[in-house]
Amino acid sequence: MTRILGIETSCDETSAAIVDDANGVPTLRSLVILSQDVHRVFGGVVPEIASRAHLTAIVPVVRETVAQAAATLSDLDAVAVTTEPGLVGALMVGLNYAKGLSLALDIPMIAVHHMEGHLFATSLDDATAEPPFTALLVSGGHTLLLDVPAWGSYKLLGSTRDDAAGEAFDKVAKLLGLPYPGGRHVEALARDGDPSRFRFSRPMLHRNTPSDDSSYLDVSFSGLKTAVLNAVRGSTDIERDRADIARGFQDALIETLVEKTARAAAMFHRDRIVLGGGVACNRTLIEAMRARMGVHVEVFAPTPRLATDNAAMIARAGLFRYNHGERASLDHAARATAPLPGQE
Ligand code: KG4
Ligand code: ZN
Repeated sequence: MTRILGIETSCDETSAAIVDDANGVPTLRSLVILSQDVHRVFGGVVPEIASRAHLTAIVPVVRETVAQAAATLSDLDAVAVTTEPGLVGALMVGLNYAKGLSLALDIPMIAVHHMEGHLFATSLDDATAEPPFTALLVSGGHTLLLDVPAWGSYKLLGSTRDDAAGEAFDKVAKLLGLPYPGGRHVEALARDGDPSRFRFSRPMLHRNTPSDDSSYLDVSFSGLKTAVLNAVRGSTDIERDRADIARGFQDALIETLVEKTARAAAMFHRDRIVLGGGVACNRTLIEAMRARMGVHVEVFAPTPRLATDNAAMIARAGLFRYNHGERASLDHAARATAPLPGQE
């Protein structure tokens, strides 16, 4: 049996989790997520404040996680930590803590790519969410469309040319006067919206685009964001129009993501789609994806606490890397950007 402690500090969540494979299936034993509410007043994450808040939180968060699993630190076989991509100052807090723990307990440290964590998250809810599958990772910082023939083997099919999907939600939320992070507020507002009043054009979604065109699987949301800005500015009664604009925006974004994912799944003949990242909390997206794919393609989405940033997914990806004999050295550095390991 292998028991892994996962640590995640790449952005504004300080999180720790324990995953083990006691019964042959990777199982989540405990998870603590401390979200830094302090950034709300700034309307976005302030890196320096995030680093300091991680520093204050990391020790009690790990302690609580170990206690919740009814374990002790000496029961751990390895510590897995997010080392990339993310805010370097924030990553360094988790990384240096993991290095200290690795030395003190004489256990290996495993370096985990944050987006590989998001890929593994759903498999903790449902072990059948395993490759081969098409993956759509939609978070605040990334929008990645991948073909995953096996764990550790990732073919990047498409990504965003400008804003990430979550970033687009957050910017539109700001335009509509909603709190940060705004994704779930936009979704809630759009529920009451009239879909016929603001029909924004679908970004990079021309029906006759040939599959070898570079825009076939990429997305772009900055034009849509500008269209929303113009709609807000042009409104004579924003209280009346807010929900309709939110609806128009969300419909356009979701239709684009769903269509691109359907194209990718068809290209590789995949009958499973795995969603990940904070935007995968969006029920409207999940339902639209299921409706578009029909009964022959299974759509997996993580539960909300595993969709947004958390250490459970880092421990799970860490277990995979550990079983492949990977070990990080104590001079391992944090990186702001990095391709997925095993990415073509
Ligand atoms: O994965 P995540 O927690 O952090 C990053 O790694 O970036 O994703 C956060 C993003 C935010 O942009 C937030 O607005 C978005 O996920 N989000 C949503 C919803 N819940 C969270 N977007 C749309 N609909 C939601 N229900
Ligand atoms: Zn994330």
